[in-house]
Amino acid sequence: MNDMRILERDVSANTAKITARGVQVYYGESHALKDVDVDILSGTVTAFIGPSGCGKSTFLRCLNRMNDTIAICKVKGEIRLDGADIYDKRVDPVVLRAKVGMVFQKPNPFPKSIYDNVAYGPKIHGLTRSKTDLDEIVESSLRKAALWNEVKDRLHAPGTGLSGGQQQRLCIARAIATSPEVLLMDEPCSALDPIATAQVEELIDELRSQFSVVIVTHSMQQAARVSQRTAFFHMGHLVEYGETGQIFTNPKDPRTESYITGRIG
Ligand SMILES: Nc1ncnc2c1ncn2[C@@H]1O[C@H](COP(=O)(O)OP(=O)(O)OP(=O)(O)O)[C@@H](O)[C@H]1O
Ligand SMILES: [Mg+2]
Repeated sequence: MNDMRILERDVSANTAKITARGVQVYYGESHALKDVDVDILSGTVTAFIGPSGCGKSTFLRCLNRMNDTIAICKVKGEIRLDGADIYDKRVDPVVLRAKVGMVFQKPNPFPKSIYDNVAYGPKIHGLTRSKTDLDEIVESSLRKAALWNEVKDRLHAPGTGLSGGQQQRLCIARAIATSPEVLLMDEPCSALDPIATAQVEELIDELRSQFSVVIVTHSMQQAARVSQRTAFFHMGHLVEYGETGQIFTNPKDPRTESYITGRIG
């Protein structure tokens, strides 16, 4: 772990954007997440790390109610966004997901043009008044996602015709086009080459000035490069959560230490 560039930035004054308390998740009889408590800070990149199957994606999906779409999945406990319970009956999950956007591991562009993929969210949420406004959002989102130069001459070509890495950046542009307050990213770079990965990591760092970012990653180098807080999950438990530099250089729990030194995983 000596070769890692750990970016120490003090975010301790940042307030909690999302608070999770006593979160339990069941898939049928199987207890996938056990009593998770965590505060996700504003203006901060939080990395979720841990071995395959430990519950990282499950917990990420709790944060914007994507688990609602899985029939056998039951979520218990409390999750609040700016103090408001996101599981309250009055909350519309579609509106919630515009505020808490998500980028998946496998790029999943809509079967629409590049332009329409990005314009879709702002349109359905009525965020723009004119075609010029919409054009501006599409362009700025594609620029932020480091894709503009590659697609500006073919905005009306299908999104599905892009390469895998380009599709992933398109999905990032689509997610940020609604100006979410929190962006959830589940292994967003696993389909990307090192150049696109570096661009996305740079973007993540920029995004944090506007919103909270939560990123699931199997790359500890990536977690160390982009995040200020890290949560280590193991077998459905959130074992350790803290400042990224501390987690990687001085973990308190032996399970965290085993994982980051490559003994489990
Ligand atoms: N849709 C589902 N139906 C049933 N069980 C599920 C479902 N999704 C996840 N699980 C189970 O919940 C547990 C946690 O899975 P999850 O996908 O959250 O792990 P993960 O940490 O994201 O793993 P990976 O690093 O491989 O992506 C696993 O035991 C998994 O089999
Ligand atoms: Mg996962």
